[in-house]
Amino acid sequence: RLTLEVDHATAAIKPYMWGIFFEDINFGADGGLYAELVKNRSFEFYEPMMGWKEASKEEGNGKIFILKREQKKPVNPTYLRIDSRNDQGLYGVVNEGFRGMGVRANERYNFSVIARKADGDTPEVVVELVNSEGSVIGQTTITGFTKEWQKLEGSLTSSQTDPKASLRVMVKGKGIVDMDMISLFPENTWKNRKNGLRADLVQMLYDLKPGFLRFPGGCIVEGHDLSLRYQWKKTVGPVEEREMIINRWNTEFMHRHTPDYFQSFGLGFYEYFLLAEDLGAEPLPILNCGMACQYNTGELVPLDELDPYIQDALDLIEFANGDTTTQWGKLRAQMGHPQPFNLKFLGIGNEQWGEQYVERYQKFAEVLRQKHPEIMLVGGSGPKPEDERFHYLWNEMKDEEVDLIDEHYYMSPDWFFSNADRYDDYDRNGPKVFAGEYAAHGPEKEYPLSKNTWLSALSEAAFMTGLVRNADVVNMASYAPLMAHVEAWQWRPDLIWFDNLNVVGTPNYYVQKLYSTCTGNEVLNITKDGSPLTGQNKLYASASRDKNNGKVYIKLVNASNNSQEVIINMNGNAKFDKKATVYLMTADDPLAYNTFETPKKVVPVQSTIKIKGKVIHETLQPMSFYVFEIGA
Ligand code: AHR
Repeated sequence: RLTLEVDHATAAIKPYMWGIFFEDINFGADGGLYAELVKNRSFEFYEPMMGWKEASKEEGNGKIFILKREQKKPVNPTYLRIDSRNDQGLYGVVNEGFRGMGVRANERYNFSVIARKADGDTPEVVVELVNSEGSVIGQTTITGFTKEWQKLEGSLTSSQTDPKASLRVMVKGKGIVDMDMISLFPENTWKNRKNGLRADLVQMLYDLKPGFLRFPGGCIVEGHDLSLRYQWKKTVGPVEEREMIINRWNTEFMHRHTPDYFQSFGLGFYEYFLLAEDLGAEPLPILNCGMACQYNTGELVPLDELDPYIQDALDLIEFANGDTTTQWGKLRAQMGHPQPFNLKFLGIGNEQWGEQYVERYQKFAEVLRQKHPEIMLVGGSGPKPEDERFHYLWNEMKDEEVDLIDEHYYMSPDWFFSNADRYDDYDRNGPKVFAGEYAAHGPEKEYPLSKNTWLSALSEAAFMTGLVRNADVVNMASYAPLMAHVEAWQWRPDLIWFDNLNVVGTPNYYVQKLYSTCTGNEVLNITKDGSPLTGQNKLYASASRDKNNGKVYIKLVNASNNSQEVIINMNGNAKFDKKATVYLMTADDPLAYNTFETPKKVVPVQSTIKIKGKVIHETLQPMSFYVFEIGA
């Protein structure tokens, strides 16, 4: 039997402590959160017909051509010409979607195309939703083609649910039609925004009640080389004018290759800011610091050519916060958001290392500190928490007086269990920590097969007790990566898995959710014999309180294979009812994980317990995570 004491408050917990890290990896944006169903809608993939095939019906025939208008439209030059040569019948193309198109019975889908009539009568284009067996399950006809390029729209309703539908777009009769930006979106999107985000996926993020949204990554910020870095200015304004590039994750990684992975930037910086606002999260953009991914080319911008990169940072602050008379503030208003987005944080560089990073960070900071002292700067600490580069950068960043240092750790469950005290002795006079990317990964040899097991989630829950206890130092934390499509991932584990119609939260997701929804805003001291519980007897503990309503939250992890009896003396810290709510996560098998078929295998189970006096007396189950919510 172990006795724990909960007593005085030790530190404030930032309202933005628990956040989310978003990157377009694993089809996170295109093919995921961004609800566009048409892959390669603008024909700008390196192989312009990738995702498309010729299609015909009722003896239609003709030819497909790919043309470019580089002078007139350098950003989106490629378009499709459908030359239908039969007076009768239908001839055109079919799009396969992102591993198919997920459609639901009785739901509406909005079609649009930018098109012109190049020759012939061509009054009609037939648009059909086709199920995986080849039957038409929705149809509409588009008319009104002229010799000028224009956007034409229609909508259709699906008569069936199918995760693997496709879209046929065919000219009826003889004629030539040029098409670009062929697009299909569900009408039902998050907040019903036209051509917006997948509602079920955003709901999962919303339920996490994240304190911040970090975007747009990750390695995609850096790019394979600098020409392929993330450039936010190319992701705002009309979608047809956003320049598509190959995705950094379109590569052989973890024995997987996703050759059709590009970034359309339909989910661009404006949409990220809007999403952050919808989620009630602080926006936290990370910008390229003049360095490409050091795991790839490691290309560097010479220091005397860094100005455009720094200007991008200044302009981004103007885009987010500037009034509507400024150049970038005006664009924000034109896009639909005259009010500022209230940006407070800015990350400079992702996972860089070496003095090259420090030199570039200094140049950014010099300008940003002077022009925008109100913005908190986030610097990097390199990719590995336990090597020389990390310590070197941490010290350099401390000298630079960076506000937050972004630490990343993809380590084993054992590492997470044994690092619950990581921040206990951290420098209290240095920068704050942004634990910007972390996840417990299985052993190296099983890496490609590593899944979101209960063991990984439990080790994160144990480690996170240390984040709460040290919230005076650790101000922000986010699991990574956030999302993955089951048929198109490059990296796992990930917090949320989805396919074209379904989504499932991992045990790790529910651990994150318990932290973000059951922590409050001040840390309470919790000790056993005067010391924090950081793995003694395989037990981990944190305590915290919400000053606004007096609720106290005790989190306990029992990483032992045996049950353990604990007594928690609250010492007057909670306004006591005679009961407390308990959220318990556990599983018989440490390797258990959630699937679409068994989404609730490892989820929190809620119950109430009786409390005698100001003491909680509980026998903790083996391999379990408990959250006690007490009072008020
Ligand atoms: O989260 C996946 C990747 O891990 C990120 O893109 C990168 O920052 C880190 O190496």
